[in-house]
Amino acid sequence: MRKIIASEFVSLDGVFEAPDQWHFPYFDEEMGQEIMAAMGQTDAMLMGRVNYEEWAEFWPNQDPEENPASGFMNGVRKFVVSTTLEEPLGWDNSTLIKENVAEEIAGLKRQTGGDIAISGSASLVRSLLKDGLIDELRLMVHPVVVGSGKRLFEGGGDQIALELADSRTFSTGVVYLTYRPVSGRDNDDQKEVQEMEAGNARERMTLVLGGRGKIGRRVSERLEERGLPVRVGSRSGEPPFDWENPDTWAPALHGVGSVYVSYFPDLAIPGAVEAVRSFAELAVGTGVRRLVLLSGRGEEEAQRAEQALREVGDEAGVEWTIVRCAWFNQNFDENYLLEPILGGEVALPSGDVPEPFVDADDIADVAVAALTEDGHAGELYELTGPRLLTMEEAVGEISKATGRKIRFVPVSLEEYESVLAEADVPPEFLSFLTYLFGTVLDGRNASLTDGVRRALGREPRDFADYARDAAATGVWGSVREGKR
Ligand SMILES: NC(=O)c1ccc[n+]([C@@H]2O[C@H](COP(=O)([O-])OP(=O)(O)OC[C@H]3O[C@@H](n4cnc5c(N)ncnc54)[C@H](OP(=O)(O)O)[C@@H]3O)[C@@H](O)[C@H]2O)c1
Repeated sequence: MRKIIASEFVSLDGVFEAPDQWHFPYFDEEMGQEIMAAMGQTDAMLMGRVNYEEWAEFWPNQDPEENPASGFMNGVRKFVVSTTLEEPLGWDNSTLIKENVAEEIAGLKRQTGGDIAISGSASLVRSLLKDGLIDELRLMVHPVVVGSGKRLFEGGGDQIALELADSRTFSTGVVYLTYRPVSGRDNDDQKEVQEMEAGNARERMTLVLGGRGKIGRRVSERLEERGLPVRVGSRSGEPPFDWENPDTWAPALHGVGSVYVSYFPDLAIPGAVEAVRSFAELAVGTGVRRLVLLSGRGEEEAQRAEQALREVGDEAGVEWTIVRCAWFNQNFDENYLLEPILGGEVALPSGDVPEPFVDADDIADVAVAALTEDGHAGELYELTGPRLLTMEEAVGEISKATGRKIRFVPVSLEEYESVLAEADVPPEFLSFLTYLFGTVLDGRNASLTDGVRRALGREPRDFADYARDAAATGVWGSVREGKR
């Protein structure tokens, strides 16, 4: 990650404006060397509109012989934050950032390159400090009281704790102070800051990816019932979110403190790990403090996606929870098994291998607990139902609950594949289903876990209860009298 370094000349009374009126008596070789050394590590500059307008007027008219810094200032890549300027910008190598400033700047930090420098541009410095995007604040405090002029920090801002990383005194009496965001303070202080951050994050919005899907819908509903601000992540959301279009990610993350991360269609799909990693990096860069990932049991790719999210979270000091699930009960009424159930015949290559089906309501309860409560950070919750059932037994439960005759027909993987192909199932979904039944359903998941109890302090829901309630909604056709 590139660093953003804000460097400012300030007077004893905190003024940063018009340094040409008070700074030059203190400029000497010692200070010049420090400034040149910092420039050597910089390959981009960030500035606000006022600074841009002043400098775009000044630097192109300087003679490089007389003012050697002009070569650097004119040649360096410049990013200008302004809502009023318009492209194209006249000063060489200048790019305008007009909207989504924090996201855009977090994106710049993720690019490879040298440091990104800011000087002057006090309001930009203040807002980036608040968003946690500044890595170092370097102040050259001049021993002069200027009396009037704009202050680097004006009244009315938030309290932001920094730690002193270095201090030096020049022979002119200028004190050179280097501050960094709090990181290495003692544990109590750090804990307090983290709790504050977690509190702030809770006040911010929760983005629920797949927010209209099986689990995401339930997560969104639960958060809304608690009166918490929610943004439904959906391709038709406002703004939209699409895993296949990374340009939609930053707008969806704007103002978001926590994210429920659900990948579509499945974390086992090629490209999922990279997408989850990139998304998590963007999320932590834009101020997200809590990530909860929905994952799948027994899938190598899903476990790699978990690892990617954990690494990003740990590096950024952000809380994460993994919710790793067995197969969902709701595959039978909200997913690909609904149609065969309605048709009265379920033909699957599942053999006698049992699966500990888990209920979407239990999963959503765990995800919501992890999103809203303390004590779930760093946990991997492996969720199963309370009972192992073969596919045939599960279909039998549904048959019993509906009073309808639903046949289970064991087929080979090849037969299943050709039936799917004939039914024009898209190739990527077909290969995913054959992976599920041919690889994941080999007995590796045929065991129960205590994940629901560990996360919620209660037992998971049984498949028979799910089947009874789903049947009562009429989703599988009419329920025989007396079965409700
Ligand atoms: N099914 C299981 O038994 C099982 C078991 C363990 C783990 N999992 C995991 O569960 C996850 C899926 O969760 P789910 O079942 O709750 O979701 P889901 O019901 O399959 O669907 C989620 C939503 O994803 C959205 N979507 C479709 N294409 C998208 C795209 N390109 N970008 C963003 N969103 C897109 C759709 O909503 P919009 O049209 O509104 O965009 C859809 O409603 C997968 O990652 C899988 O690995 C599933």
